Amino acid sequence: MKVSIASDHAGYALRQKIVSHLKEKGFEVLEGGATSSSESYSYVKAGQKVARDVNDGTALRGIVICGTGIGISIVANKYKGIRCALCTNEFMARMSREHNDANVLALGERVIGYGVALSTVDAFFEEEFLGERHAIRVNDIKEQEDELFK
Ligand code: RB5
Repeated sequence: MKVSIASDHAGYALRQKIVSHLKEKGFEVLEGGATSSSESYSYVKAGQKVARDVNDGTALRGIVICGTGIGISIVANKYKGIRCALCTNEFMARMSREHNDANVLALGERVIGYGVALSTVDAFFEEEFLGERHAIRVNDIKEQEDELFK
């Protein structure tokens, strides 16, 4: 699976850990955003890169990381077809897939430790959308998008 991942400077160190983890597991990773944790980089630009990659099919899923995960998830969720879930643990990541069919995971490097972050990432890729009653809600979101992005 192809995954697009980007971060600002505040998410740079966690991004390195996640990229190595995903590559070890055989994912194809497209990386963008900050090139160090010391030089300021806009979370808006980083979020846009991943949202565009997922939106146009360059990547199937995305991961966005900033200090809290908040700013970058707001950016990603402005794009049509993006369902970005800001998760702080494995349970949230599982639910984001099973109930919301989330296609982008947002994490905050200043919020969670590396161990929890990696298990959150694993849960995000392990779980499938359950469909059925949850598909009704996700379709409602898609209808809302059709109205907003006319
Ligand atoms: C950067 O200092 C910080 O504002 C950013 O990483 C993020 O937490 C914004 O939501």
